[in-house]
Amino acid sequence: MNQPWRDAVRPISADEWPRVKELRLSALRDPAAAIAFLESYERALAEPDSFWKERAEAAAGGSRVRQFVAEGPDGVWSGTVTVLIEEAGNDDVFGVTVEQRQAHIVGVFLRPEHRGSGAIDALFEAAVEWAVSVAKVTRVRLYVHEDNARAEGFYRRFGFVRSGVTAPMKGDPSKTEVEMVLDRPGAPPALP
Ligand SMILES: CC(C)(COP(=O)(O)OP(=O)(O)OC[C@H]1O[C@@H](n2cnc3c(N)ncnc32)[C@H](O)[C@@H]1OP(=O)(O)O)[C@@H](O)C(=O)NCCC(=O)NCCS
Repeated sequence: MNQPWRDAVRPISADEWPRVKELRLSALRDPAAAIAFLESYERALAEPDSFWKERAEAAAGGSRVRQFVAEGPDGVWSGTVTVLIEEAGNDDVFGVTVEQRQAHIVGVFLRPEHRGSGAIDALFEAAVEWAVSVAKVTRVRLYVHEDNARAEGFYRRFGFVRSGVTAPMKGDPSKTEVEMVLDRPGAPPALP
C-alpha cells in the first residue's frame, strides 16, 4: 500500500459541506455516473444548501454514516467513499429488508486523474477499518452495476466477492446491480 495515500485519507468535517457538494457534483458528471450512482446530476444540483449541510453533518460525526476523503498535498480532494451502517429489519436503498446489521459502502469515486494511483485502496482501508473496529459490523457489502468492470476489478482486488444477490437497477430494470461482500472483514489488507 502506498503510504502517502494512507496518510491522506480522513473523515470529512461538517463545515466542509461545500467541498462535499463540489466532489459529488463532479462524480455525477463523470462518464461512468450512469452506471455508478443512483442519483442524477440535475437532481443533486437542484438541492438547496441545507441538503448538503445535513448530508455533511450526518457523515462527519454520526454513528450511522461516515464519509472519507483522500486529500492530496495540494489540498484537493482526490476521491471519496461513504459507509452506511444498515440495521437489521430496515429497508435498504433497493427497498429490500436488511437481514443482519452490516456496513454498505456507497458513493465510491476517484477523480479521473487519480485512478490507478492506489488512492482507492487507502480510502477502502479507512472505511472498512471504521466499519469493523468502530461500528462493529461483521459484514461489509456494496453494489456494483453489471457493466462497471473497472469498479468490480478493484473490489475483487480488495477482497470483495459476489454474494449471489442481485437487484434490478433503478430506472433500468433490464440491468442488474450485483451485491459484493468483503470476504474476510477485519483481516489485514493483502500485501501488494
Ligand atoms: C471505481 C474507482 C473508484 C476505482 O478506482 P481506480 O483507481 O480506477 O481502480 P484501480 O485502477 O486501482 O483498479 C481497477 C482494477 O480494474 C481493472 N480494470 C480497469 N479497467 C477495466 C476494465 N475495463 N475491465 C476490467 N477490469 C478493468 C484494473 O486493471 C484494476 O485491476 P488490477 O489492479 O488487478 O490490475 C474509479 O475507477 C472511479 O472512480 N470510477 C468512476 C466511479 C465509479 O464507477 N464508482 C464505483 C461505483 S460502484
